[in-house]
Amino acid sequence: MKFIQHFFSILVGTAYCSRKFPPGFKFGAATAAYQIEGAWNISDKSESIWDVFSHERPGAIVDGSNGDVACDSYHQWRRDVEIASELGLHFYRFSISWTRLLPNGFTNHVSEDGKRYYSDLIDALLEKGIQPVVTLYHWDLPQSLQNLGGWTNPLIADWFGQYTRVAYTLYGDRVKTWITINEPVIYCQASYGSGLHAPGIISIGLGGYLCSKNSVLAHAKAWRIYDEEFRPKYKGKVSLTNQLTWFEPVTEDEQESADLALQLWTGIYAHPIFSEEGGWPAELEKRIAEKSRQEGYPVSRLPPFTEEEKEFVRGTYDFFGFNFYTARTTRKAKAGEEVGPWPFTGAPDLGVVLSVRADWPRASDWIFIYPKALRLQLSWVKQQYGDVDIFILENGIAGHDTDLDDQYRVKFYRDHLEQVLLAIQEDDVKVSCYTAWTMIDNFEWSDGYRSKLGLYEVDFEAPARTRRPRASAHYYKSVIKSHSLDV
Ligand code: NOJ
Repeated sequence: MKFIQHFFSILVGTAYCSRKFPPGFKFGAATAAYQIEGAWNISDKSESIWDVFSHERPGAIVDGSNGDVACDSYHQWRRDVEIASELGLHFYRFSISWTRLLPNGFTNHVSEDGKRYYSDLIDALLEKGIQPVVTLYHWDLPQSLQNLGGWTNPLIADWFGQYTRVAYTLYGDRVKTWITINEPVIYCQASYGSGLHAPGIISIGLGGYLCSKNSVLAHAKAWRIYDEEFRPKYKGKVSLTNQLTWFEPVTEDEQESADLALQLWTGIYAHPIFSEEGGWPAELEKRIAEKSRQEGYPVSRLPPFTEEEKEFVRGTYDFFGFNFYTARTTRKAKAGEEVGPWPFTGAPDLGVVLSVRADWPRASDWIFIYPKALRLQLSWVKQQYGDVDIFILENGIAGHDTDLDDQYRVKFYRDHLEQVLLAIQEDDVKVSCYTAWTMIDNFEWSDGYRSKLGLYEVDFEAPARTRRPRASAHYYKSVIKSHSLDV
Protein backbone atom coordinates (compact mmCIF):
# COMPACT_ATOMS: atom_id res chain seq x y z
CA MET A 1 0.00 0.00 0.00
CA LYS A 2 2.78 2.39 1.06
CA PHE A 3 4.64 1.57 -2.18
CA ILE A 4 1.58 2.32 -4.33
CA GLN A 5 1.01 5.61 -2.48
CA HIS A 6 4.63 6.53 -2.97
CA PHE A 7 4.57 5.71 -6.68
CA PHE A 8 1.34 7.65 -7.14
CA SER A 9 2.74 10.66 -5.33
CA ILE A 10 5.72 10.75 -7.68
CA LEU A 11 3.34 10.71 -10.65
CA VAL A 12 0.90 13.37 -9.53
CA GLY A 13 2.92 15.40 -7.07
CA THR A 14 3.54 14.77 -3.39
CA ALA A 15 1.49 17.69 -2.14
CA TYR A 16 -1.69 16.46 -3.76
CA CYS A 17 -1.31 12.96 -2.46
CA SER A 18 -0.22 13.62 1.04
CA ARG A 19 -2.71 16.28 2.08
CA LYS A 20 -5.94 14.42 1.41
CA PHE A 21 -7.69 12.60 4.27
CA PRO A 22 -8.68 8.98 3.68
CA PRO A 23 -12.09 8.58 2.00
CA GLY A 24 -14.08 7.44 5.04
CA PHE A 25 -12.49 9.94 7.45
CA LYS A 26 -15.07 12.03 9.35
CA PHE A 27 -14.96 15.52 10.84
CA GLY A 28 -17.01 16.78 13.76
CA ALA A 29 -17.20 19.37 16.52
CA ALA A 30 -18.10 18.95 20.17
CA THR A 31 -19.80 20.60 23.13
CA ALA A 32 -21.06 19.45 26.55
CA ALA A 33 -24.36 19.96 28.35
CA TYR A 34 -23.32 22.07 31.34
CA GLN A 35 -21.05 24.20 29.17
CA ILE A 36 -23.78 25.24 26.70
CA GLU A 37 -27.33 24.40 27.75
CA GLY A 38 -28.14 26.81 30.59
CA ALA A 39 -31.78 26.33 31.77
CA TRP A 40 -30.28 24.88 34.92
CA ASN A 41 -33.57 24.74 36.82
CA ILE A 42 -36.16 24.53 34.08
CA SER A 43 -39.02 22.05 34.31
CA ASP A 44 -38.19 19.17 36.66
CA LYS A 45 -34.41 19.30 36.15
CA SER A 46 -32.55 19.04 39.45
CA GLU A 47 -29.13 20.39 40.42
CA SER A 48 -25.91 18.88 39.21
CA ILE A 49 -22.67 19.24 41.13
CA TRP A 50 -21.73 22.13 38.82
CA ASP A 51 -24.97 24.01 39.62
CA VAL A 52 -24.28 23.72 43.33
CA PHE A 53 -20.53 24.37 43.14
CA SER A 54 -20.83 27.46 40.94
CA HIS A 55 -23.61 28.91 43.11
CA GLU A 56 -22.05 28.18 46.46
CA ARG A 57 -18.41 28.80 45.60
CA PRO A 58 -18.34 31.48 42.87
CA GLY A 59 -14.76 32.27 43.93
CA ALA A 60 -13.73 28.90 42.50
CA ILE A 61 -14.48 30.20 38.99
CA VAL A 62 -12.14 32.95 37.74
CA ASP A 63 -14.87 35.37 36.69
CA GLY A 64 -17.36 34.31 39.37
CA SER A 65 -19.70 33.08 36.62
CA ASN A 66 -21.74 29.91 36.22
CA GLY A 67 -23.59 27.87 33.60
CA ASP A 68 -27.09 29.04 34.56
CA VAL A 69 -27.65 30.44 31.07
CA ALA A 70 -24.36 29.68 29.27
CA CYS A 71 -25.08 29.61 25.50
CA ASP A 72 -28.76 29.01 26.25
CA SER A 73 -28.62 25.99 23.98
CA TYR A 74 -31.65 24.59 25.78
CA HIS A 75 -33.59 27.23 23.83
CA GLN A 76 -31.14 27.96 20.99
CA TRP A 77 -30.46 24.37 19.93
CA ARG A 78 -31.93 24.91 16.47
CA ARG A 79 -29.24 27.52 15.85
CA ASP A 80 -26.61 25.01 17.03
CA VAL A 81 -27.87 22.47 14.52
CA GLU A 82 -27.78 25.16 11.84
CA ILE A 83 -24.15 25.92 12.76
CA ALA A 84 -23.22 22.25 12.61
CA SER A 85 -24.75 22.20 9.16
CA GLU A 86 -23.06 25.47 8.07
CA LEU A 87 -19.74 23.90 9.01
CA GLY A 88 -20.58 20.78 7.02
CA LEU A 89 -19.93 18.53 10.02
CA HIS A 90 -20.28 14.81 9.55
CA PHE A 91 -21.09 14.45 13.25
CA TYR A 92 -21.86 16.61 16.25
CA ARG A 93 -20.70 15.47 19.67
CA PHE A 94 -22.83 16.69 22.60
CA SER A 95 -23.58 15.35 26.06
CA ILE A 96 -26.73 14.46 27.94
CA SER A 97 -27.27 16.16 31.26
CA TRP A 98 -28.01 13.34 33.70
CA THR A 99 -30.21 15.58 35.88
CA ARG A 100 -32.21 16.83 32.90
CA LEU A 101 -33.10 13.28 31.94
CA LEU A 102 -33.29 11.71 35.40
CA PRO A 103 -34.00 14.48 37.91
CA ASN A 104 -33.52 12.15 40.90
CA GLY A 105 -30.31 10.72 39.49
CA PHE A 106 -32.08 7.36 39.58
CA THR A 107 -34.39 5.80 37.02
CA ASN A 108 -37.59 6.02 39.07
CA HIS A 109 -38.45 9.27 37.33
CA VAL A 110 -37.66 10.11 33.71
CA SER A 111 -38.31 13.73 32.76
CA GLU A 112 -40.69 14.17 29.82
CA ASP A 113 -39.11 17.52 28.94
CA GLY A 114 -35.59 16.12 29.19
CA LYS A 115 -36.55 13.18 27.00
CA ARG A 116 -38.06 15.47 24.38
CA TYR A 117 -35.16 17.94 24.37
CA TYR A 118 -32.54 15.38 23.37
CA SER A 119 -34.90 13.55 21.06
CA ASP A 120 -35.66 16.72 19.11
CA LEU A 121 -31.98 17.60 18.91
CA ILE A 122 -31.08 14.15 17.59
CA ASP A 123 -33.87 14.22 15.01
CA ALA A 124 -32.89 17.70 13.80
CA LEU A 125 -29.26 16.64 13.36
CA LEU A 126 -30.23 13.52 11.45
CA GLU A 127 -32.51 15.54 9.21
CA LYS A 128 -29.46 17.56 8.17
CA GLY A 129 -27.44 14.40 7.64
CA ILE A 130 -25.30 14.95 10.76
CA GLN A 131 -24.64 11.96 13.01
CA PRO A 132 -25.20 12.53 16.73
CA VAL A 133 -22.29 11.37 18.89
CA VAL A 134 -23.47 11.31 22.48
CA THR A 135 -21.43 11.61 25.66
CA LEU A 136 -23.23 10.14 28.65
CA TYR A 137 -21.11 11.73 31.36
CA HIS A 138 -19.42 15.08 30.83
CA TRP A 139 -18.82 16.06 34.48
CA ASP A 140 -22.31 17.19 35.62
CA LEU A 141 -23.09 14.51 38.19
CA PRO A 142 -26.49 14.74 39.93
CA GLN A 143 -25.96 16.45 43.29
CA SER A 144 -28.25 13.81 44.80
CA LEU A 145 -25.63 11.18 43.91
CA GLN A 146 -22.75 13.34 45.08
CA ASN A 147 -24.52 13.50 48.45
CA LEU A 148 -24.03 9.73 48.54
CA GLY A 149 -20.33 9.96 47.70
CA GLY A 150 -20.48 10.44 43.94
CA TRP A 151 -17.58 8.89 42.06
CA THR A 152 -15.95 7.71 45.29
CA ASN A 153 -18.86 5.37 46.04
CA PRO A 154 -18.46 1.98 44.30
CA LEU A 155 -22.25 1.84 43.78
CA ILE A 156 -21.86 4.57 41.16
CA ALA A 157 -21.11 1.86 38.58
CA ASP A 158 -24.65 0.52 39.00
CA TRP A 159 -26.25 3.97 39.12
CA PHE A 160 -24.41 5.00 35.97
CA GLY A 161 -25.30 1.74 34.27
CA GLN A 162 -29.00 2.25 34.99
CA TYR A 163 -28.88 5.80 33.62
CA THR A 164 -27.12 4.70 30.45
CA ARG A 165 -29.75 1.99 29.90
CA VAL A 166 -32.44 4.72 29.85
CA ALA A 167 -30.45 6.73 27.30
CA TYR A 168 -29.81 3.69 25.06
CA THR A 169 -33.51 2.76 25.25
CA LEU A 170 -34.68 6.25 24.32
CA TYR A 171 -32.15 7.14 21.63
CA GLY A 172 -30.32 3.95 20.62
CA ASP A 173 -32.38 3.64 17.46
CA ARG A 174 -30.86 6.92 16.22
CA VAL A 175 -27.53 7.29 18.07
CA LYS A 176 -24.83 4.93 16.83
CA THR A 177 -21.80 6.30 18.69
CA TRP A 178 -21.81 6.58 22.47
CA ILE A 179 -19.12 7.89 24.79
CA THR A 180 -19.57 6.65 28.32
CA ILE A 181 -17.29 8.96 30.34
CA ASN A 182 -15.33 12.02 29.26
CA GLU A 183 -11.77 12.53 30.51
CA PRO A 184 -11.84 10.65 33.81
CA VAL A 185 -8.26 11.83 34.41
CA ILE A 186 -9.53 15.39 34.70
CA TYR A 187 -12.74 14.91 36.64
CA CYS A 188 -11.16 12.46 39.09
CA GLN A 189 -8.16 14.65 39.83
CA ALA A 190 -9.88 18.02 39.76
CA SER A 191 -13.09 16.94 41.51
CA TYR A 192 -11.77 14.59 44.20
CA GLY A 193 -8.05 15.47 44.35
CA SER A 194 -7.17 19.15 43.97
CA GLY A 195 -10.78 20.26 44.49
CA LEU A 196 -10.60 22.77 41.63
CA HIS A 197 -13.73 21.37 39.97
CA ALA A 198 -17.15 20.50 41.37
CA PRO A 199 -17.81 19.15 43.95
CA GLY A 200 -14.52 20.66 45.17
CA ILE A 201 -13.34 17.80 47.35
CA ILE A 202 -9.67 18.04 48.31
CA SER A 203 -8.27 14.58 48.85
CA ILE A 204 -4.89 14.49 47.18
CA GLY A 205 -3.64 11.01 46.38
CA LEU A 206 -6.77 9.32 47.77
CA GLY A 207 -10.12 10.54 46.40
CA GLY A 208 -8.80 10.73 42.85
CA TYR A 209 -7.75 7.06 42.87
CA LEU A 210 -11.10 5.92 44.29
CA CYS A 211 -12.77 7.85 41.50
CA SER A 212 -10.43 6.26 38.94
CA LYS A 213 -11.37 2.72 39.89
CA ASN A 214 -15.09 3.46 40.08
CA SER A 215 -15.02 5.30 36.77
CA VAL A 216 -13.36 2.40 35.00
CA LEU A 217 -15.95 0.01 36.44
CA ALA A 218 -18.83 2.36 35.59
CA HIS A 219 -17.60 2.62 32.01
CA ALA A 220 -17.36 -1.17 31.75
CA LYS A 221 -20.86 -1.57 33.16
CA ALA A 222 -22.27 0.87 30.59
CA TRP A 223 -20.42 -0.87 27.75
CA ARG A 224 -21.64 -4.31 28.83
CA ILE A 225 -25.24 -3.15 29.11
CA TYR A 226 -25.07 -1.86 25.55
CA ASP A 227 -23.27 -4.94 24.33
CA GLU A 228 -25.74 -7.40 25.81
CA GLU A 229 -29.06 -5.58 25.54
CA PHE A 230 -28.77 -3.12 22.65
CA ARG A 231 -25.98 -4.02 20.26
CA PRO A 232 -27.85 -6.92 18.61
CA LYS A 233 -30.62 -4.52 17.58
CA TYR A 234 -28.84 -1.19 17.14
CA LYS A 235 -25.30 -2.16 16.13
CA GLY A 236 -23.69 0.97 17.56
CA LYS A 237 -20.26 1.66 19.07
CA VAL A 238 -19.46 2.50 22.68
CA SER A 239 -16.26 3.58 24.41
CA LEU A 240 -14.87 6.15 26.81
CA THR A 241 -12.76 9.13 25.83
CA ASN A 242 -9.46 9.88 27.53
CA GLN A 243 -7.47 13.07 27.60
CA LEU A 244 -3.94 12.39 26.44
CA THR A 245 -1.29 14.84 27.48
CA TRP A 246 2.06 14.03 25.91
CA PHE A 247 4.96 13.61 28.33
CA GLU A 248 8.42 14.08 26.90
CA PRO A 249 11.66 13.41 28.78
CA VAL A 250 13.92 16.45 29.17
CA THR A 251 16.83 14.33 27.98
CA GLU A 252 16.99 10.83 26.51
CA ASP A 253 18.17 9.28 29.75
CA GLU A 254 14.98 10.49 31.46
CA GLN A 255 12.74 8.26 29.31
CA GLU A 256 11.55 6.26 32.32
CA SER A 257 10.03 9.35 33.94
CA ALA A 258 8.04 10.07 30.77
CA ASP A 259 6.87 6.46 30.49
CA LEU A 260 5.64 6.56 34.08
CA ALA A 261 3.87 9.89 33.67
CA LEU A 262 2.12 8.58 30.53
CA GLN A 263 0.91 5.61 32.55
CA LEU A 264 -0.34 7.76 35.41
CA TRP A 265 -2.15 10.12 33.05
CA THR A 266 -3.53 7.75 30.42
CA GLY A 267 -2.54 4.17 31.21
CA ILE A 268 -4.53 4.24 34.42
CA TYR A 269 -7.75 4.57 32.38
CA ALA A 270 -6.63 2.72 29.27
CA HIS A 271 -4.64 -0.30 30.46
CA PRO A 272 -7.54 -1.93 32.34
CA ILE A 273 -9.73 -1.65 29.23
CA PHE A 274 -7.47 -1.82 26.17
CA SER A 275 -4.49 -4.00 27.17
CA GLU A 276 -4.49 -7.78 26.76
CA GLU A 277 -3.76 -8.50 30.41
CA GLY A 278 -6.12 -5.90 31.93
CA GLY A 279 -5.82 -4.31 35.39
CA TRP A 280 -3.74 -1.30 36.39
CA PRO A 281 -0.41 -0.74 34.63
CA ALA A 282 1.84 -3.03 36.69
CA GLU A 283 4.71 -0.62 37.37
CA LEU A 284 2.29 2.10 38.43
CA GLU A 285 0.45 -0.21 40.78
CA LYS A 286 3.74 -1.30 42.33
CA ARG A 287 5.05 2.24 42.84
CA ILE A 288 1.85 3.62 44.34
CA ALA A 289 1.59 0.62 46.70
CA GLU A 290 5.22 1.14 47.82
CA LYS A 291 4.72 4.86 48.36
CA SER A 292 1.52 4.21 50.32
CA ARG A 293 3.36 1.75 52.56
CA GLN A 294 6.17 4.26 53.18
CA GLU A 295 3.54 6.77 54.24
CA GLY A 296 2.11 4.26 56.74
CA TYR A 297 -1.08 3.32 54.90
CA PRO A 298 -2.10 -0.29 55.54
CA VAL A 299 -3.17 -0.71 51.90
CA SER A 300 -2.38 1.00 48.61
CA ARG A 301 -4.11 4.32 48.00
CA LEU A 302 -4.82 2.96 44.51
CA PRO A 303 -7.53 0.36 45.20
CA PRO A 304 -6.71 -2.96 43.50
CA PHE A 305 -9.04 -4.74 41.08
CA THR A 306 -10.21 -8.24 41.94
CA GLU A 307 -9.60 -10.85 39.22
CA GLU A 308 -13.31 -10.79 38.49
CA GLU A 309 -13.34 -7.00 38.09
CA LYS A 310 -10.33 -7.18 35.78
CA GLU A 311 -12.17 -9.58 33.50
CA PHE A 312 -15.33 -7.49 33.67
CA VAL A 313 -13.44 -4.42 32.43
CA ARG A 314 -11.00 -5.94 29.93
CA GLY A 315 -12.00 -5.46 26.29
CA THR A 316 -14.96 -3.15 26.95
CA TYR A 317 -14.40 -0.87 23.96
CA ASP A 318 -15.33 -0.40 20.32
CA PHE A 319 -12.81 2.39 19.61
CA PHE A 320 -10.15 4.42 21.43
CA GLY A 321 -11.52 7.89 22.35
CA PHE A 322 -8.69 10.44 22.22
CA ASN A 323 -8.84 14.09 23.38
CA PHE A 324 -5.64 16.03 22.84
CA TYR A 325 -4.44 19.50 23.81
CA THR A 326 -0.93 19.79 25.16
CA ALA A 327 2.37 18.40 26.47
CA ARG A 328 4.71 18.48 29.47
CA THR A 329 8.34 17.55 30.03
CA THR A 330 9.45 15.05 32.66
CA ARG A 331 12.52 14.23 34.70
CA LYS A 332 13.25 12.19 37.79
CA ALA A 333 13.34 14.22 41.02
CA LYS A 334 16.82 14.67 42.50
CA ALA A 335 17.56 13.21 45.93
CA GLY A 336 15.73 15.26 48.57
CA GLU A 337 13.98 17.43 45.96
CA GLU A 338 10.40 18.30 46.79
CA VAL A 339 7.97 17.18 44.06
CA GLY A 340 5.04 19.47 43.26
CA PRO A 341 1.42 18.33 43.07
CA TRP A 342 0.03 16.11 40.33
CA PRO A 343 -0.82 16.99 37.65
CA PHE A 344 0.54 20.55 37.89
CA THR A 345 4.27 20.51 38.51
CA GLY A 346 4.99 16.95 39.48
CA ALA A 347 3.87 13.40 40.22
CA PRO A 348 4.81 12.78 43.88
CA ASP A 349 3.78 9.12 43.71
CA LEU A 350 6.36 8.57 40.97
CA GLY A 351 9.06 11.03 42.01
CA VAL A 352 8.68 12.82 38.67
CA VAL A 353 9.02 16.57 38.07
CA LEU A 354 6.95 18.19 35.32
CA SER A 355 7.66 21.28 33.29
CA VAL A 356 7.41 22.61 29.72
CA ARG A 357 9.84 23.32 26.91
CA ALA A 358 10.76 26.92 26.22
CA ASP A 359 9.90 26.53 22.52
CA TRP A 360 6.28 25.52 23.17
CA PRO A 361 4.24 28.73 22.88
CA ARG A 362 1.80 29.23 25.73
CA ALA A 363 -1.86 29.57 24.69
CA SER A 364 -3.55 29.58 28.11
CA ASP A 365 -2.93 28.64 31.74
CA TRP A 366 -2.45 25.02 30.75
CA ILE A 367 -2.18 24.74 26.97
CA PHE A 368 1.38 24.82 25.63
CA ILE A 369 1.41 24.29 21.88
CA TYR A 370 3.34 21.32 20.52
CA PRO A 371 1.56 19.88 17.45
CA LYS A 372 4.10 17.11 16.85
CA ALA A 373 3.07 15.65 20.19
CA LEU A 374 -0.27 14.71 18.67
CA ARG A 375 1.44 12.41 16.17
CA LEU A 376 3.73 10.98 18.85
CA GLN A 377 0.78 10.38 21.12
CA LEU A 378 -1.20 8.59 18.41
CA SER A 379 1.76 6.27 17.81
CA TRP A 380 2.08 5.69 21.54
CA VAL A 381 -1.51 4.46 21.68
CA LYS A 382 -0.84 2.05 18.82
CA GLN A 383 2.36 0.84 20.41
CA GLN A 384 0.67 0.31 23.80
CA TYR A 385 -2.69 -1.13 22.80
CA GLY A 386 -2.27 -2.40 19.25
CA ASP A 387 -4.02 -1.40 16.06
CA VAL A 388 -7.11 -0.01 17.73
CA ASP A 389 -9.48 2.31 15.87
CA ILE A 390 -8.77 5.82 17.23
CA PHE A 391 -11.46 8.50 17.35
CA ILE A 392 -10.01 11.96 18.00
CA LEU A 393 -12.89 13.42 19.99
CA GLU A 394 -11.44 16.77 21.08
CA ASN A 395 -8.66 19.09 19.98
CA GLY A 396 -8.62 22.86 20.21
CA ILE A 397 -7.02 25.96 21.61
CA ALA A 398 -8.03 28.48 24.24
CA GLY A 399 -7.62 32.19 23.64
CA HIS A 400 -9.03 35.48 24.79
CA ASP A 401 -10.38 36.53 21.39
CA THR A 402 -11.56 40.06 20.93
CA ASP A 403 -12.26 39.88 17.22
CA LEU A 404 -13.37 37.21 14.80
CA ASP A 405 -10.06 36.95 12.97
CA ASP A 406 -8.51 34.18 15.06
CA GLN A 407 -5.58 33.35 12.80
CA TYR A 408 -3.72 31.71 15.67
CA ARG A 409 -6.57 29.17 15.93
CA VAL A 410 -6.51 28.56 12.17
CA LYS A 411 -2.80 27.81 12.51
CA PHE A 412 -3.42 25.54 15.51
CA TYR A 413 -5.95 23.46 13.58
CA ARG A 414 -3.79 23.33 10.45
CA ASP A 415 -0.69 22.28 12.37
CA HIS A 416 -2.53 19.62 14.34
CA LEU A 417 -4.42 18.23 11.36
CA GLU A 418 -1.09 17.91 9.55
CA GLN A 419 0.14 15.70 12.37
CA VAL A 420 -3.00 13.58 12.14
CA LEU A 421 -2.34 13.05 8.45
CA LEU A 422 1.28 12.13 9.11
CA ALA A 423 0.21 9.62 11.75
CA ILE A 424 -2.18 8.02 9.28
CA GLN A 425 0.12 8.11 6.23
CA GLU A 426 3.57 7.60 7.69
CA ASP A 427 2.97 5.70 10.93
CA ASP A 428 -0.02 3.61 9.80
CA VAL A 429 -2.06 4.60 12.81
CA LYS A 430 -5.76 3.90 12.40
CA VAL A 431 -7.52 7.24 12.96
CA SER A 432 -11.16 7.43 11.83
CA CYS A 433 -12.26 10.90 12.77
CA TYR A 434 -11.30 14.30 14.14
CA THR A 435 -13.33 16.58 16.40
CA ALA A 436 -12.81 20.27 17.00
CA TRP A 437 -13.31 21.47 20.57
CA THR A 438 -15.41 23.44 20.52
CA MET A 439 -18.19 24.40 18.14
CA ILE A 440 -19.24 27.53 20.06
CA ASP A 441 -17.64 29.48 22.93
CA ASN A 442 -19.00 28.21 26.22
CA PHE A 443 -18.56 27.93 29.99
CA GLU A 444 -14.97 26.71 30.39
CA TRP A 445 -15.35 25.20 33.89
CA SER A 446 -13.21 26.97 36.50
CA ASP A 447 -12.06 29.39 33.77
CA GLY A 448 -15.65 30.63 33.34
CA TYR A 449 -16.21 32.63 30.14
CA ARG A 450 -12.68 34.03 30.12
CA SER A 451 -11.20 31.27 27.97
CA LYS A 452 -12.68 31.06 24.51
CA LEU A 453 -12.26 27.93 22.42
CA GLY A 454 -15.10 28.25 19.92
CA LEU A 455 -15.10 28.11 16.15
CA TYR A 456 -18.06 30.42 16.64
CA GLU A 457 -18.01 33.37 18.98
CA VAL A 458 -20.94 33.67 21.39
CA ASP A 459 -22.05 37.06 22.66
CA PHE A 460 -22.71 36.34 26.32
CA GLU A 461 -24.14 39.83 26.85
CA ALA A 462 -26.90 39.36 24.26
CA PRO A 463 -30.11 37.73 25.52
CA ALA A 464 -30.18 35.46 22.45
CA ARG A 465 -26.51 34.57 22.94
CA THR A 466 -25.83 35.44 19.29
CA ARG A 467 -23.32 33.17 17.54
CA ARG A 468 -20.93 34.39 14.80
CA PRO A 469 -18.32 32.40 12.86
CA ARG A 470 -14.64 33.12 13.41
CA ALA A 471 -11.97 32.75 10.73
CA SER A 472 -11.27 29.28 12.17
CA ALA A 473 -14.87 28.26 11.40
CA HIS A 474 -14.39 29.22 7.75
CA TYR A 475 -11.08 27.37 7.67
CA TYR A 476 -12.49 24.20 9.26
CA LYS A 477 -15.45 24.30 6.90
CA SER A 478 -13.16 24.33 3.88
CA VAL A 479 -11.05 21.49 5.26
CA ILE A 480 -14.22 19.43 5.63
CA LYS A 481 -15.50 20.39 2.20
CA SER A 482 -12.27 19.62 0.37
CA HIS A 483 -11.51 16.67 2.65
CA SER A 484 -7.93 17.85 2.62
CA LEU A 485 -5.49 20.40 3.97
CA ASP A 486 -5.13 22.07 0.58
CA VAL A 487 -7.42 24.96 1.28
C1 NOJ B 1 -11.76 18.88 27.79
C2 NOJ B 1 -13.16 18.85 28.30
O1 NOJ B 1 -13.76 17.66 27.89
C3 NOJ B 1 -13.97 20.05 27.88
O2 NOJ B 1 -15.15 20.06 28.62
C4 NOJ B 1 -13.15 21.30 28.05
O3 NOJ B 1 -13.91 22.46 27.79
C5 NOJ B 1 -11.96 21.22 27.14
N1 NOJ B 1 -11.13 20.12 27.55
C6 NOJ B 1 -11.08 22.47 27.13
O4 NOJ B 1 -10.57 22.67 28.39
